[in-house]
Order: sequence, then structure tokens, then C-alpha cells
Amino acid sequence: MIKIAPSVLSADFARLGEEVRAVEQAGADYIHVDVMDGHFVPNLTIGPLVVQAIARVATKPLDVHLMISPVEVYIPDFVKAGASILTVHAEATHHLDRTLNVIRELGCKVGLALNPATPLCNLGNVLSLLDMVVIMSVNPGFGGQSFIPYALQRIQTVRRMINDRGLRVELEVDGGIKPENIQAAVKAGADVFVAGSAIFSKPDYGAVIRAMRENAAA
Ligand code: DX5
Ligand code: ZN
Repeated sequence: MIKIAPSVLSADFARLGEEVRAVEQAGADYIHVDVMDGHFVPNLTIGPLVVQAIARVATKPLDVHLMISPVEVYIPDFVKAGASILTVHAEATHHLDRTLNVIRELGCKVGLALNPATPLCNLGNVLSLLDMVVIMSVNPGFGGQSFIPYALQRIQTVRRMINDRGLRVELEVDGGIKPENIQAAVKAGADVFVAGSAIFSKPDYGAVIRAMRENAAA
């Protein structure tokens, strides 16, 4: 069973609560929240206060994607705000092992995101500490970018690493996912699919999510 994680980055922020409820009704499994600092990535979005506001209306787990550096100092704030899964970037911390353990100790699920050009080799050491690996299929910073095709090989490699060790780590792909290309990412081995613009740019969120599931299963 695949999971769909709509990214509220492309939602109407003036009606954020309604948008969250709407994608949940449309079949979302997670609510993906993109936190950007204008330093690690060239865009600024939201902080813990807004995550907290989303947590008050959401019934699905909040999949909080931190694109901030340094990330360590803000982890407790995002856990308190209501994150269920807290994802940090490997490139955003000098002490990745410590950072991942802190998230776990605070009672949150642990995610690790890797930018398109980041080598996968370091993942091997920390894979068993994770609940989720996030393969970035765009350079993080903005919604609405095109899927980078070589991300598919990276998904395949990580899927093999997870299966070879018999781990139950989720494998999420983030960036440029839409009904037309989800099947390739499913075949490569991803099981959680972030989609921002593909969902929120259409009037019927449910129709997009249904199309994603149908194409994924085809
Ligand atoms: C990119 C973000 C993504 C993005 C997805 O920095 O991490 O979650 O918002 O948006 P789409 O689906 O429009 O590429
Ligand atoms: Zn994201």
C-alpha cells in the first residue's frame, strides 16, 4: 500500500486549516509540511507556530520536512508543535548520528532527506536509526519543479539497501510527483509520495489523489 503526502506548500495559506481538512477528505495519508529558512534553501516558509496550528486541525500524521541549517536547535520546537515524523537533511547537520538520535529520544519518528546530488553511501551507517528516507527528486526550495529522472536510480538503490537488511523504513520521494510519473517511482521502490502542486493546482484534490493511486497500482 502506497501513501500520499500532500505538501501544503502549494496550499492557499490564507485558508490553511480548510486546505488541510480538504486533502484529508481527499485521501491524504500524511500531511507534508515544508519548513524553509532562506539559508539552507533559497526560500522562506513557515516555523513551529504554523506547524502547531496545522496540528490542531489535522487528523493524519504531520510529516515535517526541515530544510533548515543548523537544524539541531529547532528540533524540540517542532516536536512540541506536533510533528509525527521529523525529517532533517543530511547536509544540514555536522553530527547526523546525534541529530537523528535526539529526534528519536524526543518521541518523534525519524526521517532523513538526501538532496539529488548527495552520495547515498553515508546512508548505510544510519539506516537502522530511521523510520523514513526521503529521496529528493528536485533541488529543495520550491514547489512546482520538474522531477529529476536520475532520482529513480537512487530510489532503487535505497530500496535495495532497506530490503537487504530487512528493515521497515519508509521510502519517500519528494518533488515533481504527479499522476503521470508516479508509476515509475513506485516501480523503483518508493512507498510514500509527496505531491504539492500536482494536487493543490487542481480544483478536485480527490480526483488527483485517486489518479495517483490508480496509476501507482497499474
Ligand atoms: C521542495 C519541497 C517539496 C515540494 C513538493 O523543496 O520539499 O515538498 O513542495 O512540491 P511539488 O510536488 O510541487 O514538487
Ligand atoms: Zn518536502
